[in-house]
Amino acid sequence: MEFYDVINRRRSMRGYKSDPIPAESLDRIAKALQVAPSACNLQPWKFLYIENQDLCDKICQVYSREWLGQAPAIIVALGNSEDCWRRIEGTPIVDIDVGIAMEHVVLAAAAENLDTCWICAYEIKKLNRVLEINHPWSALAITPIGFGSKEPRELDRKPIDEIFEVIK
Ligand SMILES: Cc1cc2nc3c(=O)[nH]c(=O)nc-3n(C[C@H](O)[C@H](O)[C@H](O)COP(=O)(O)O)c2cc1C
Repeated sequence: MEFYDVINRRRSMRGYKSDPIPAESLDRIAKALQVAPSACNLQPWKFLYIENQDLCDKICQVYSREWLGQAPAIIVALGNSEDCWRRIEGTPIVDIDVGIAMEHVVLAAAAENLDTCWICAYEIKKLNRVLEINHPWSALAITPIGFGSKEPRELDRKPIDEIFEVIK
């Protein structure tokens, strides 16, 4: 799929079919994750691709939405807040690094005609606990992954002149 078609195809999907994800698609998605850039190339992430029903149920208890449980798998993006680059002020850059890596995964899924939905509106401590993730690792974002069963919400964006300024 052409790059601009991919980024336009990617939308947040909040309804999934139970159809499994093709192994070749998953392989290409993992490779798209592998090439994501990170500060100092520290790659402070690990992505869990969870099909296990017990674990999916536990995640759904922390972020309780019917559509999350419909997907055949849930991806959890873990970040390492110690083994990452720090800004000059000392703050860890892990959120940005993991955000970039997650978007690689999400866009690669879109290129595979799969759907996703970034999710961060959960209590990180609770998700870490149910997944038994310990410091310095943390579950920073999740997404269901699968074939969507409905239309995404209508596209709603700020006008370009409000978000992009050319300065000569
Ligand atoms: C960092 C981040 C966190 C998000 N968290 C959630 C979430 O917890 N729940 C949800 O339903 N959507 C979540 N979204 C999806 C946004 O609502 C969605 O991207 C936005 O409304 C634009 O719609 P679109 O993705 O369909 O283009 C999140 C998106 C991002 C980038």
